[in-house]
Amino acid sequence: MADKRIFSGIKPTGDLTLGSYIGAIKNWVELQNDYDCLYCIVDMHAITIRNDPEVLHRRTLEQLAQYIASGLDPKKNIVYIQSHVAQHAELSWILGCYSMMGELNRMTQFKDMSRKHSDNLNAGIFTYPVLMAADILLYQSDLVPVGEDQKQHVELARNIAVRFNGVYGDVFKLPEPFIPKVGARIRSLTDPTSKMSKSDEDPQGSVYIMDSPDAIMKKFKRAKTDSLGCVRFDPDEQPGISNLMTIYSSVTGRSFDEITAEFEGKGYGVFKPAVAEAVIETLRPIREESERLLSDRSQLAEVYRDGARRAAEIAEDTLNLVRGKIGFVGK
Ligand code: AMP
Ligand code: TRP
Repeated sequence: MADKRIFSGIKPTGDLTLGSYIGAIKNWVELQNDYDCLYCIVDMHAITIRNDPEVLHRRTLEQLAQYIASGLDPKKNIVYIQSHVAQHAELSWILGCYSMMGELNRMTQFKDMSRKHSDNLNAGIFTYPVLMAADILLYQSDLVPVGEDQKQHVELARNIAVRFNGVYGDVFKLPEPFIPKVGARIRSLTDPTSKMSKSDEDPQGSVYIMDSPDAIMKKFKRAKTDSLGCVRFDPDEQPGISNLMTIYSSVTGRSFDEITAEFEGKGYGVFKPAVAEAVIETLRPIREESERLLSDRSQLAEVYRDGARRAAEIAEDTLNLVRGKIGFVGK
């Protein structure tokens, strides 16, 4: 009996942050032993916004190195680059014909992007979730580990699958989002009302996987807190402190009660550097191993070539089934 399948991806549009690590990659690593997993670098999603080609190229390889350095084993999992498997684009076109303008119009990320990129509001931004549905459905995925912000897109993929299956019988597995209990939405250090994001204009709000220990310490020391002076999990009254507690809990495995007890009567001057230290020690081996991997491009190339070959085999099986169901004449 095959294991349940997992698919997830991150687009190489910015340097990976502690948010993408805690919300996504850390969980991918934990899931790799119990599931049959595909982890993708979704470069085709990345071009919905304008990128400098050299930067996109560099970030794609860096992201691959960071996946592996975080503990994803390319032998156990299929790790690859989306544009290397042409089936994603083909299924995306087909699924676009089973996606409704209205439902795409309701996507929160589309609404946000329309505001942010009004100077380049291209059709790719609108059909972005259809390509994401193709990513997921192409591999008959059961679970999609993502942060809270991507839940709506996974639900849309499921709705498209239900609609398609309703017409043609059981073609696609129905995927479910898999959201971590702690850390599904890490917030900006400078503005705890907004998400920590790799596209944040204020780099002080985000901690990057490749940040130096010094930079990480400085960012945490400057993190926005409050004047209450107690380490307590209360996102409404103390959003900054609750965010720091979430980060500390995710990287140390300690519960909120344990953290409150640990810093009882100690004040933020002790708490903030302690969170910084825990993050520095979590990210240090990842940064060092990424740097080592990036110094040998041939090893990275072997990983993405092997990944693409294995992904394409599964993808082609699904597409053959889909083509036949729709009525396309086989080759
Ligand atoms: P992004 O970095 O926005 O491309 O997102 C990559 C993955 O990380 C997605 O699964 C997101 O849901 C997740 N993610 C990104 N930022 C955060 C955050 N601040 N907190 C939790 N998860 C996040
Ligand atoms: N849209 C996701 C994000 O912004 C990235 C993504 C693309 C993805 N395809 C996916 C995530 C498939 C999970 C599964 O983070």
